[in-house]
Amino acid sequence: MKKFDFLIIGSGIAGLTYALKVAQHGSVCIITKASEDESNTKYAQGGVAAVWDFEEDSYRKHIADTLDAGAGLCDKKIVEIVVKEGPQRVQEVIDWGARFDMNAEGVYDLGREGGHSEHRVLHHKDNTGFEIEQTLLQQISKHPNIELHTHYFAIDIITQHHLGVEVTRRTKNIECYGVYVLNTRTKKTETILSKITLLATGGAGHVYRNTTNPIIATGDGIAMVYRAKGKIENMEFYQFHPTALYNPGEYPSFLITEAIRGFGGILKTNDEKEFMHKYDKRASLAPRDIVARAIDNEMKKRGDECVFLDCRHLDKKKFIAHFPNIYEKCLSIGIDVMKDIIPVVPAAHYLCGGIKTDDRGRSSIKNLYACGECACTGLHGANRLASNSLLEAMVFSHRAYLDAIKVFSKIDFQKKIPAWNAEGTFNPEEMVLITFTRIELQNIMSSYVGIVRSNLRLKRAFERLELIYRETEELYERTIVSPELCELRNLINVGYLIIRSSMMRKESRGLNFNTDYPKKLKVGKNTIL
Ligand code: FAD
Ligand code: SIN
Repeated sequence: MKKFDFLIIGSGIAGLTYALKVAQHGSVCIITKASEDESNTKYAQGGVAAVWDFEEDSYRKHIADTLDAGAGLCDKKIVEIVVKEGPQRVQEVIDWGARFDMNAEGVYDLGREGGHSEHRVLHHKDNTGFEIEQTLLQQISKHPNIELHTHYFAIDIITQHHLGVEVTRRTKNIECYGVYVLNTRTKKTETILSKITLLATGGAGHVYRNTTNPIIATGDGIAMVYRAKGKIENMEFYQFHPTALYNPGEYPSFLITEAIRGFGGILKTNDEKEFMHKYDKRASLAPRDIVARAIDNEMKKRGDECVFLDCRHLDKKKFIAHFPNIYEKCLSIGIDVMKDIIPVVPAAHYLCGGIKTDDRGRSSIKNLYACGECACTGLHGANRLASNSLLEAMVFSHRAYLDAIKVFSKIDFQKKIPAWNAEGTFNPEEMVLITFTRIELQNIMSSYVGIVRSNLRLKRAFERLELIYRETEELYERTIVSPELCELRNLINVGYLIIRSSMMRKESRGLNFNTDYPKKLKVGKNTIL
């Protein structure tokens, strides 16, 4: 049994920035289920939105853009916190060594994306996330107080439930004592005890068939908290990125950054006609929910498999300097973006809902914090503004750190935790049962709970999900745990939460578009207790 002051699950921007700070105060263990850098963070393209040029831009404008994108559901206090504290947090990453592009005058070259009224996106070419992830990992490797364990899969958080106490959704003061983990190399389950635990497990794109997310994004943290009877919020708001590269057979999908539209790229149908002005006066630079819905509508109306992004009119040298990876990727599949239009389709990209947290990153479970994409802080409301998520992760990892260092020394390790109970479980009879069920789940979610929903579609999804939920729980009861089975179980959990939240929201708002509710109603947040 290992014991640490601070246990962090996840090695993306949220987990790593938090680790570097709490490590000044106590022992730190980071566990991550794949290699150290595999995360959504690594693939971030566009950059980090932050007010940087105070002559052109202002906090007021960034706040207004975030609230506007969020379609009336953002928590205004949280928006102000993130926008105003954001630039300091970006500066910290720069101080740790991250390089953002500058122009010839030596000032940061600020990009623009959908929903932003100003240029305010700091970026490192078109692979900002990779630059940030590598910078943070370098700092982590130098820190004597931090242990980083790769290929360690968190199965469940440990609470009073594991001491034999009945825990229900009404139980007050549920406490987190650590986690049960599976070392996927040795195939042994271990117990890690902690005074403070941070969930930084990222998103859940793989609940859908097409996603921009790497394979780690299976909603594990959210499912763990839900099983532990913690609060989850706003799960109906799954953001589809409008422009994933349409390249049948490629899984996950390759992203074509929204920054290209900020750079002048224009969306067109395959007859090379522009269409976005029919949907929003900001045309190709409208917020994501609007653009993704417009593309979906055009594809359905015309019977097309994709739409296109036209960059042929843009300056070749500047384009390649800013977007070298996208240029190369397109060339590798025979598309010269200076001569050809780029085929694109919407793909599941970002989960706006998640583990409900307060303004210090605290979940509803004592001593358990969450930040980054797995958390729901109230910043994004019904639709996230582009490039606000890296910013949110940094601001809340800092706030969680400030709170955790005040309390951790007063917490004792729980002494009576039993080891993981594998009694009565056997090796899986057929691995293929897990694979097939995962595909079934993705098909249900993509067919019935995608960009456009209806009450009938949601009902169908709910009924079909119930069956695979029961089958998977039965399989879980009798099978030795594996990452594949745990991820399937977690994805089904997340699918259930998305469907239920969508059913509870009797209106079309932001990313939750339901054809049975054409008009907006005034309804609050959806918390599933
Ligand atoms: P992640 O970076 O996803 O890290 C999650 C970590 O948790 C991983 O290390 C994972 O292995 C680990 N983990 C998960 N489950 C377990 C488990 N059970 N046990 C152990 N470890 C586990 N946002 C922006 O602001 N700007 C952008 O330009 C941008 N571009 C994007 C481009 C792409 C292609 C994608 C996919 C996302 C983009 N986003 C962007 C969103 C942004 O990258 C993510 O929201 C953000 O990086 C999430 O950071 P995180 O630390 O919360 O999670
Ligand atoms: C992109 O570069 O288009 C993604 C930005 C984001 O998800 O915030």
